[in-house]
Amino acid sequence: ALQQTALDQVLAAHAGQAGALLPILHALQDRLGFVPPAALPPIARALNLSRAEVHGVVSFYHHFRTAPPRGRVLQICRAEACRAMGAEALWAHAQAAVEAQGCDTLEPAYCLGLCAQSPAGMLGERLHARLTPARLDALLAQEQP
Ligand code: FES
Repeated sequence: ALQQTALDQVLAAHAGQAGALLPILHALQDRLGFVPPAALPPIARALNLSRAEVHGVVSFYHHFRTAPPRGRVLQICRAEACRAMGAEALWAHAQAAVEAQGCDTLEPAYCLGLCAQSPAGMLGERLHARLTPARLDALLAQEQP
């Protein structure tokens, strides 16, 4: 029911808008944390697209999840400014940490707007600048929801 309400509101907000597919998918994921597969046929109908077209867009953009994330979402920026400051090592560390801990979800981000204080990451709704593996471990351990 929650999903249906969110979908109805999102579709209503974007009714008649050209190129509304991506905004709709983003809005839905922001509201629900993921894009439910059951939402795709009504979205396709509302936009006069085929289901295959909508499905293709959802699977093309790695940003979209089709299932609820596990625990909190940890994003590590893997774009250029952060890479230059060791983001790849941080990413590898985060992968191992999240796997060991087994209760959060790790996703890449491509610029979080903190390039001047890289490497950057985001845990839940909070941005973190100048991350190190040790700071990341401390955040994962401390910031329980
Ligand atoms: Fe990482 Fe901009 S490149 S925050």
